[in-house]
Amino acid sequence: MHEKIVVIGSNGQIGTELVSELRKSYGDGNVIACDIRRPDYDIKNAGPFEFVNVLEKEILNQLFKKYKPTQVYLLAALLSATGEQNPKLAWDLNMNGLLNVLDLALEYNTARVYWPSSIAAFGPNSPKDHTPQYCIMDPNTVYGISKLAGERWCEYYFQRYGLDVRSIRYPGLISWKAAPGGGTTDYAIHIFHDALKKQAYQSFLSAETELPMMYMDDAIRGTIELMDAPAEKISIRSSYNFTGMSFTPETLANEIKKHIPGFKLGYTEYDQRQAIADSWPRSIDDGIAERDWGWKPDFDLTKMTAEMLNNLRK
Ligand code: SER
Repeated sequence: MHEKIVVIGSNGQIGTELVSELRKSYGDGNVIACDIRRPDYDIKNAGPFEFVNVLEKEILNQLFKKYKPTQVYLLAALLSATGEQNPKLAWDLNMNGLLNVLDLALEYNTARVYWPSSIAAFGPNSPKDHTPQYCIMDPNTVYGISKLAGERWCEYYFQRYGLDVRSIRYPGLISWKAAPGGGTTDYAIHIFHDALKKQAYQSFLSAETELPMMYMDDAIRGTIELMDAPAEKISIRSSYNFTGMSFTPETLANEIKKHIPGFKLGYTEYDQRQAIADSWPRSIDDGIAERDWGWKPDFDLTKMTAEMLNNLRK
């Protein structure tokens, strides 16, 4: 089948890398990058780009009409920390953006839709270690609430209308190509920049705060593997548990010290993001992704740290 793929939120941390990976497989002209901001990267030169705000349904409608996409990736969202600064906007963007895309996907017969959920869909009463796919979910950030509600909508559109929606609950994503935007797990990226610039970092999360994480290469590969899997293999239509590794600021700092022996980790005064991190799982059981579509991460802490430092040094 000839694919036309629309990526909404193409300039973000995930979109930047996803667009270039998809363009390698499907051809530059068949992957349409869309964002509300002008693209900063190669995206604008390599293939089509459209200004799109997911909340403007008529413009979104024009986009579907023009390209008749076979696949749509919806990545536009407000993350956990920025969401707390503007809860109503986070809800509006994360929820109505999704509903607009789901409705248009039905109307224009889009074959597959991808929408990311997050570990933020879990909450203080979810089991903290090896958090299972099915358990108590009581998110207490507006971002987490929107992700849990979005998961329910994805499953609803699949069951009620047969729309082939697929989703992953991403852990903290670590990357060097594009800057992260307003997440609680972002310390695990800032730490690398500061380690190289200043040989020191002040963490806004405490030494023992363990969170599930993943290197971006794994996240992009996993996402495309899920989208390429035969529909009958997909047993979960809400969102799959998914992880690469888990660590604390302290274990990450110790790994960085193997490359930069003088590196010093300090801690800031209490930060609101600590409470968000404390409400999330420490580690994730992603056995169903492995069983259903063969998910296996490639990067552990050691390999990820070496890659981050090498790439940022260039
Ligand atoms: N990385 C995200 C955040 O910290 C979690 O989905 O908000």
